[in-house]
Amino acid sequence: MSKDSAHMKHSFTVVVMSLTTVAMAGCSDTRLPVSAAAAAANRVQRGKYLVSVVGCSDCHTPMKMGPNGPEPDLTRFLSGHPEQMGPLSGAKPQGPWLWAGAATSTAFAGPWGVSYAANLTPDQNTGLGIWTEDMFVKAIRTGRHMGASRKILPPMPWPAFRNASDEDLKAVYAYLRSVPPVANHVPDVQATTTVDMTAENR
Ligand code: HEC
Repeated sequence: MSKDSAHMKHSFTVVVMSLTTVAMAGCSDTRLPVSAAAAAANRVQRGKYLVSVVGCSDCHTPMKMGPNGPEPDLTRFLSGHPEQMGPLSGAKPQGPWLWAGAATSTAFAGPWGVSYAANLTPDQNTGLGIWTEDMFVKAIRTGRHMGASRKILPPMPWPAFRNASDEDLKAVYAYLRSVPPVANHVPDVQATTTVDMTAENR
């Protein structure tokens, strides 16, 4: 190697090193937010995956009749029992039949009374808008409305979902915050008197 090229190589290394230092110094302010944003995006993706695998939509998105039979009405994705249908009077299944589901697959009648799948979209007044992450995790873990009051009635499978990790429940919550809000006021449950509706007697 000639003296010249050795010198050039040395200068080149110095330049690269200084550029790297400058680049790193320039990035030091933004690096944290960028990775925090990436982590948040990953969490939403994980939540989307979980919601699609677990099938929250099967009960929380109304079915409509399509050309090939019933299909989820994606314009009302995860918005719960349609308010236009209103409260339904209790079905009376007979013989070996114990419970019934509405054609929308969002209302269910059984020994517990009549329950309506909740609006899980971030709509402020009718969905999970005011719910905090903590309320959501507590609701699934304890089977209590908003994590604190009446029992969450069947067929909401919280006794199974409560086995999920905190990280997964938070991911589901993060994804639910990201779906389009749909204004849909789901009717109140009509619980039978034998079902404990209070937060006491846990
Ligand atoms: C088999 C049907 C079914 C499935 C599947 C289902 N839910 Fe539900 N869910 C319901 C019903 C019905 C209610 C209303 C129960 C009530 O009002 O007591 C409900 C209520 C809820 C509530 C409101 C609880 C409260 O405190 O008022 C949340 C939150 C919820 N579901 C989240 C989910 C999530 C997230 C998934 C998927 C991981 C899911 N559900 C899957 C039927 C279902």
